[in-house]
Amino acid sequence: MLVLGIETSCDETAVAVVEGPPGTGPAAMQPVGRILSNTIYSQLTEHRRFGGVVPEIAARAHLERIDGLIEQAMVEAGVGLADLDGIAATGGPGLIGGVMVGVMTGKALAFAHEKPFLAINHLEGHALSVRLTEPVAFPYLLLLVSGGHCQLLTVRGPGDFTRLGTTIDDAAGECFDKTAKLLGLGFPGGPAVEKAAVGGDPRRFALPRPMWRKPGCDFSFSGLKTAVRQTAEKLDPNDATAVADLCASFQRTVGDVFVDRCTNALALAPMPTLVVAGGVAANAYLRGRLEEVAAAHGAQLVAPPVRLCTDNGAMIAWAGVERLRLGRIDGLDFRPRPRWPLDPSTAHRL
Ligand code: KG4
Ligand code: ZN
Repeated sequence: MLVLGIETSCDETAVAVVEGPPGTGPAAMQPVGRILSNTIYSQLTEHRRFGGVVPEIAARAHLERIDGLIEQAMVEAGVGLADLDGIAATGGPGLIGGVMVGVMTGKALAFAHEKPFLAINHLEGHALSVRLTEPVAFPYLLLLVSGGHCQLLTVRGPGDFTRLGTTIDDAAGECFDKTAKLLGLGFPGGPAVEKAAVGGDPRRFALPRPMWRKPGCDFSFSGLKTAVRQTAEKLDPNDATAVADLCASFQRTVGDVFVDRCTNALALAPMPTLVVAGGVAANAYLRGRLEEVAAAHGAQLVAPPVRLCTDNGAMIAWAGVERLRLGRIDGLDFRPRPRWPLDPSTAHRL
């Protein structure tokens, strides 16, 4: 089963071809997939001088790159469009101009080559990505932490999620990006903060841990963001030790919050596997902390490889494989969605 995946919901134009296991139907434990190609154009240079992603610039850049990337992905995979079993594109949530570029391109290819079209929820792409490379069975507990989202969910299968908690203000990735910006470490902030924290003293600065020891699984990061800003303003930006100490202290604080929230989630919904996915899952320190909390509850932490944590086309193609196996195909009348919660029962909430 060969599926093309197109991702254009934020600032990465990404296209991949993934081969899924043969057969159809839900498989609780199933063999993993194979990535035949995974091309990506990161719009870093377009957005860097603005210190964040500019939606109009992103949409235009997706449009300029998408055809070339699809061609490159097909060539690298060594297959033709006629060989595909389905075409998957991110249908939301995300910056709507970019999502429209991906969806329209996917639909056009599906129509012209008479292939099934699969509209993928970007968050489902992150949520299922671990099964592309690891034989993880449903159900599992998922900590989904990216630039725009911070949620704890139970995952029972494609389209079958229960949200246990979410952030009531900012996402964890956003907080990493803001911290990096304040300290002049560049954009995107996550990898920069992780690098700067190496060798830093994680106990030097006592920062607030929002929601810590409160019941439930919701998150909050705005208070932490403010405390980092106030601390950073007092520091000499040229004092490399102070910057390293603040980054390490910040990272430890986020780790404490993750551990506390996951402890509540594992008590509420005990599962054998804790999965962490999304861009922030690339952070080695945080993975270590999550390994500890999983082990303390008799569970195992499983994470996708680092290159599949941040946005990519392979996770969209893989979600397409999972959906195609269940016959869940979308019509060419699918409308791109700027908002699209994984758990529809929470649509009216944050
Ligand atoms: O999943 P993703 O690529 O895009 C969204 O769907 O949002 O996540 C991007 C986020 C950014 O905020 C970035 O700073 C963060 O993931 N990130 C990291 C690391 N690598 C990326 N955060 C912490 N440590 C990292 N190593
Ligand atoms: Zn993402």
